[in-house]
Amino acid sequence: MTKEQLIALLNDMSLEEKVNQMSQVIGGFFDDDTVITGPMAEMGFTEENIELSGSVIGSMGAETVKKIQKSYMEKHPHHIPLLFMLDIINGYKTVFPIPLGQGATFEPELSEKCAAVAAKEASVSGLHVTFAPMTDLVRDARWGRVMESTGEDPYLNGLFCESMVKGFQGENLSDEYKIAACVKHFAGYGAPTAGRDYNTVELSEHTFREFYLPSYKAGIDAGAALVMTSFNTVNGIPATGNKKLMRGILRDEMGFDGVLISDWAAIEETIYHGYCADKEDAAIRAVEAGVDIDMMTGIYCDNLCRLVREGKIPESLVDECCMRILELKNKLGLFENPYKDADEEKEQQLILCKEHRELAREAARKSFVLLKNEEQILPLDKTKKTAFIGPYVNSRNLMGSWSIIGEAKDITTVEETMAVEEAGNNVVCCQGSPMLGAEVILEGFTEENQATYTPEEEAKMLEEALEAAKKADQVVLFIGEDRLQSGEATSNATIQIPQIQQNLLERVAEINENIAVVLFSGRPLDLRDVQVKAKAILEVWMPGTEGARAITDVLYGRYNPTAKLPMSFPYCVGQVPVHYNEYATGRPHVEGKDKDRFRSKYLDIPNAPLYPFGYGLSYTTFTVSEVSLDKDSMKDGESIQAAVTVKNTGTCAGTETIQLYLHDFAASVVRPVKELKDFRKVTLQPEEEARVEFTITEPQLRFLSENHIFESEAGVFEVFIGTDSTTANKAKFTLEKQ
Ligand code: GLC
Repeated sequence: MTKEQLIALLNDMSLEEKVNQMSQVIGGFFDDDTVITGPMAEMGFTEENIELSGSVIGSMGAETVKKIQKSYMEKHPHHIPLLFMLDIINGYKTVFPIPLGQGATFEPELSEKCAAVAAKEASVSGLHVTFAPMTDLVRDARWGRVMESTGEDPYLNGLFCESMVKGFQGENLSDEYKIAACVKHFAGYGAPTAGRDYNTVELSEHTFREFYLPSYKAGIDAGAALVMTSFNTVNGIPATGNKKLMRGILRDEMGFDGVLISDWAAIEETIYHGYCADKEDAAIRAVEAGVDIDMMTGIYCDNLCRLVREGKIPESLVDECCMRILELKNKLGLFENPYKDADEEKEQQLILCKEHRELAREAARKSFVLLKNEEQILPLDKTKKTAFIGPYVNSRNLMGSWSIIGEAKDITTVEETMAVEEAGNNVVCCQGSPMLGAEVILEGFTEENQATYTPEEEAKMLEEALEAAKKADQVVLFIGEDRLQSGEATSNATIQIPQIQQNLLERVAEINENIAVVLFSGRPLDLRDVQVKAKAILEVWMPGTEGARAITDVLYGRYNPTAKLPMSFPYCVGQVPVHYNEYATGRPHVEGKDKDRFRSKYLDIPNAPLYPFGYGLSYTTFTVSEVSLDKDSMKDGESIQAAVTVKNTGTCAGTETIQLYLHDFAASVVRPVKELKDFRKVTLQPEEEARVEFTITEPQLRFLSENHIFESEAGVFEVFIGTDSTTANKAKFTLEKQ
């Protein structure tokens, strides 16, 4: 439709029709095959609300969606098509690594491919919108939703957010196999006080703008069609009713003109925050903030028509929101083809096809971070007797908790992979322990997710495992968090592997010292004890549909690990929030270098995380030369070439991620000790070396200055180039101003 036609349509719609376009309901009102992803409080939706609703959450499947769309449009007075939306966070049916694992690839273009496959599978299943990418910056491993983020760095998060938006949306939303992306959660949701989900966010304006906002902007600049409000307050005002945030920053400053959708029930929750007096007030605040769609509360339906008729809000506010929704439907081509790509035949052909599975396997391999590898115990020596032990040996639950469409039946376990594809590798498999002990209660999760065993069964599986460990030359322990222990509403004050698995590790370590740990987690964990007992640790996150095959690819050296940590692994939970790009403080502490008591440090633990941002080992080794600069000063508009020579000094081919960090020595607002500004992946054969070059430009030196604008200031800078954020390999240069 043309803009004029859309305007004519809007003008012909009744107030009820316009208001109900702004309301999203679960598909269950139309069809009982619905995925529910939020609290199902008493919904006050009327028959009319259902018949006039603008969008649906939770329905999928070409046949289902076409059936709903057809009957809905026949009844609708203007036959306006529904939008079908769903959380397709890291894949549809073909499930990719969780976003935190994707961040570890340091390969945004790979995530773009994964998002494109997810969009293809979702679109043929009738979906139009995904509630992704989530790009909340994270620094606190107690918060279970770190698994949905790509980590602690604004620059890296921005690259991934942009790539995922492009992967989902392509060039035109109406193109085949493209769906609309929704950047979330705006804004600052990743910084809840004490790491407790939905808790208060208290950030200075400076920190908010310098660290937390940039990646949302990257997604918006990439053309994201939607943004989702966050549950939290920003400066004491719930984001969902926060006019300064939504109209001032999101729309006016960032130029976002797409659809703003509330998070699940977030409009109603402005009441529970103590911001809105009642539902009428909540409706007013949200619509004045420019929230276009009310997800699952009915507050817009129940109040906006009356508020307009009572003159409490101008109808123009409703028209503005409704027009943005109609424009989104129009961009998707739904007025011409309300079924878009929904196609039962293509569902059969495309979903979980070989090509998609291969991409999932590649993405998984590239997400695994080798944290330790003493005595080169990895890759495994096939001639040695090996015991694979742990609850993840025979678990199909390798998908992150937001893999709501992925099915365990489509996943091959490690044990099955060993039997079919790695036969003859001198390996015995034993579960060894349950995933979780009886003391761990996953509130609100359906019980089938927690297998239960009698004490006798537990004792038997442990005995078998210890027997196998005794006979083996080496043990690989497949352990970690249950998939449901990270994700929404899964904050934890302890961030260690489940106690029952800790016991397994201890018992195995008593009888076999050659232990490699394959660690499954949705968040950084406290690995102090694991590190002591294991000679090798491979962090595999929640690796997705092809996780098991990808793990054996790495364990047997078919793929040499390349990933780097996108989020620091703290020494212990007492250290969080911990992140590499911190400020120096007036009393910086240098480990082991100062005996002065009065330094910024702990008495009982080191300042440094156990494993830092940007860290990850390879099966080979690399050296990096000193940093060379083609000049030691530059002016605005100029640039400096920085370079290092990287050499593969090991015995097998490998890929290293060379990272460039900048540090501004003195500025009108203090600057982080390091900021990631660029990185390059370089693949080298043994003894091969390569020159890796970077161009440093003035825009990379800009920051939010005391003038409250992003600008650079003259002065001395350090440029660090190395293989993780602790690199001391540096050179200095000066920025001169006219
Ligand atoms: C949830 C999440 C949000 C998700 C939405 C719809 O509460 O916070 O990320 O997209 O509801 O499922």
